[in-house]
Amino acid sequence: MANVQNLPDNGNPSGLWASFVYAVARTTTFADYFEPLIQLVKPSFVAGKIPARVVQVRHENDHVFSLILKPGRGFKGFTAGQYVELCVERDGRRFSRYFSISSGVQQFRQQGTIELSIRVQEKGHITPWLRMALTTGAKVHLGHAQGEFVLKASDKPLLMLAGGSGITPFRSMLAGLQDYPAAVTLLYYAQDASAHLFKRELLARQADMPHVRVVLVDTSLEGFFSQQHLDVYCPDYAARDIYICGPSAMITHSRQLLAELGVAQGNIHFEFFGPAPLQLDGIATAGVTEFRRSGKQSINPEQQQTLLDMAENAGLKPASGCRMGVCYQCICKKESGVVLNTKTGQYSDTGAQDVQMCVSVPVGDVVLDI
Ligand SMILES: Cc1cc2nc3c(=O)[nH]c(=O)nc-3n(C[C@H](O)[C@H](O)[C@H](O)COP(=O)(O)OP(=O)(O)OC[C@H]3O[C@@H](n4cnc5c(N)ncnc54)[C@H](O)[C@@H]3O)c2cc1C
Ligand code: FES
Repeated sequence: MANVQNLPDNGNPSGLWASFVYAVARTTTFADYFEPLIQLVKPSFVAGKIPARVVQVRHENDHVFSLILKPGRGFKGFTAGQYVELCVERDGRRFSRYFSISSGVQQFRQQGTIELSIRVQEKGHITPWLRMALTTGAKVHLGHAQGEFVLKASDKPLLMLAGGSGITPFRSMLAGLQDYPAAVTLLYYAQDASAHLFKRELLARQADMPHVRVVLVDTSLEGFFSQQHLDVYCPDYAARDIYICGPSAMITHSRQLLAELGVAQGNIHFEFFGPAPLQLDGIATAGVTEFRRSGKQSINPEQQQTLLDMAENAGLKPASGCRMGVCYQCICKKESGVVLNTKTGQYSDTGAQDVQMCVSVPVGDVVLDI
């Protein structure tokens, strides 16, 4: 699903006014309110974001390219596995997308650069344009690094499961594992042998670090992640901390298989690159969702939807951005009832509480303050 923030035009008097009204209506920080005014004297200013320059564009293959970026001084650094918001202006409108940092922490410390490795989504609104428009010297804006998909402080052996462009956080992690005290196995799945990104670099890491094993799995020959792969490539998987990043279907399948094999859920960590699939089998979702302030309601449909979809289908236009539980723009106050956050798997309590509409589904009757 699109991970979009569509903001109004900038740069002309009506766009400026629209931006100001929008900022006052939709944002909360002091800098956001005054962004359009500050832009009068400093046009490149974007509230809460750090300017960055494209130092180089590297084409990894026909579908993936890497941006090597030099963020300005405000950038506070990152932990391997975290992601950043990349903001660009296209035809006077601002868009943002989230990308894991694919380079190591040491590269940032030594050269002041970070890399984002971006798969061009065939029907995407932004990634085809990014590949075409961003050349050396281009200016973009970045959010601060965020995200919990980072290695736990532990001396346990690790199993990393990567699929397709889901290799990006692992590339960053592996760059800093020289002194890791236990075994690390990366199983990297791609649809054929030519589709593995950073192949040479990953194999060089394995050669440099005796405790690291890299297995490049060609799914056209070996199939998807399976118990057999575990038995062959990582038989002590149950004793490891397991990290998974890749397409939603891969993450869902891997978690399910690992659960069936008795791996403790607490040992499994994962990052979705898109919205988490709704998996609501056996969850009682019948009920009425009431949008109290607007006087509308929605009977929870059989084809389960998120609160955001339900509100939009009821004719409301709540604020939203990424639609995948990342940007927190869709937060609204739940007055009563229980909702399930499909990203975290957590149920809310029954009382008043903020909920992320784009990843939450109602469980029974729910009242929202919109
Ligand atoms: C935490 C996080 C980290 C991410 N890190 C990376 C990264 O390192 N590299 C990277 O390439 N992407 C990454 N993504 C995905 C990225 O943020 C965007 O989803 C994607 O680049 C959107 O491209 P677009 O704007 O061109 O497509 P959109 O216009 O947003 O979507 C167009 C179509 O493409 C489909 N689509 C969009 N994104 C994906 C996807 N990831 N997989 C399958 N189908 C998709 C949509 O369903 C839609 O049909 C990450 C996402 C998150 C949440
Ligand atoms: S729209 Fe981004 S978290 Fe919900």
